[in-house]
Amino acid sequence: MAPENDPTQSAAKNPPDEDVVIEVERLVMRFGKQTVLSGLDLKVRRGETLVVMGGSGCGKSTLLGLMIGGKAPTEGRVRLFGEDIAQVDETRLDALRRRFGILFQSGALYQSMSIADNVALPMRELTDLPPDLIDLQVKMKLEAVGLREHADKFPAQISGGMKKRAGLARALALDPEIIFYDEPSAGLDPVTSAEIDQLILTLTKKLGVTSVVVTHEMDSAFTIADRMVMLDKGRCLKIAPRAEYERIRSLGNDQASMLPEDDRIVRQFIRGDAAGPITDRRTMTSYADDLMGLLAPLPASPSITPTR
Ligand SMILES: Nc1ncnc2c1ncn2[C@@H]1O[C@H](COP(=O)(O)OP(=O)(O)OP(=O)(O)O)[C@@H](O)[C@H]1O
Ligand SMILES: [Mg+2]
Repeated sequence: MAPENDPTQSAAKNPPDEDVVIEVERLVMRFGKQTVLSGLDLKVRRGETLVVMGGSGCGKSTLLGLMIGGKAPTEGRVRLFGEDIAQVDETRLDALRRRFGILFQSGALYQSMSIADNVALPMRELTDLPPDLIDLQVKMKLEAVGLREHADKFPAQISGGMKKRAGLARALALDPEIIFYDEPSAGLDPVTSAEIDQLILTLTKKLGVTSVVVTHEMDSAFTIADRMVMLDKGRCLKIAPRAEYERIRSLGNDQASMLPEDDRIVRQFIRGDAAGPITDRRTMTSYADDLMGLLAPLPASPSITPTR
């Protein structure tokens, strides 16, 4: 079936507006002369898990930063629950912040605070909950990620995987409607990584949480995703239901050679193949750069006129 006639595909591209909780419109982000995002369009529906993939440095963390109002885009906008997050005042931003949680790529815990205090922080800053209720909530969140017994330790006293889980407990602190995860399982052992996947699934399926997950871990991506999007050169290369990504992944080399270029890029990325359009492109680019480097020192029009 052609993609435009496939109901699952067109629903993925055009979800009904009342279901959309994040809307990214013509988003452009430049740092100096570098254009990281060059006109991105994307919608995230309530209750779905959208996995964001793409090569290192392609702008995934930048996109998450823009989605949470951590920075303002060069052009375009992100609407969170219908509001332009870069335009709202501090009061509205605080109100929006109560509705989402973030698990940062680095964990981003405060080193001078205990794990329990790190988790309590959003509740203390953004709610009027009394201290005893906050303590209770903190215990529940730490229990959910298996860290209740380590509540009084400081970040320097726990392992990398435990820091990730503590970051997750903090992201869950305010019972958010949306959770943003930046590389939730990077650097974790396979079991802890699978546990985090299960937690994401539980939150989504039981509590209806919407998740936007940046990940390079393909096992994890294919376990948790409802839809997947691959970023490349500042744009959405492909946004589609997980089943479509599974189809592309399972194609043999003969069938894959008939795919459009974008799908061949996606296939190489999700299979982690050593050869394919991504590596071809890299080789061609560096060869062209090398040639430019060789040509640059030559005079514009070599002269054969004798100097004397
Ligand atoms: N504050 C900043 N100032 C200047 N350049 C930045 C800034 N933040 C990001 N960049 C650049 O933007 C590009 C995208 O960075 P980003 O962190 O979004 O990539 P990523 O896709 O998350 O990569 P990774 O998979 O390695 O985490 C990189 O080239 C980075 O150097
Ligand atoms: Mg990143």
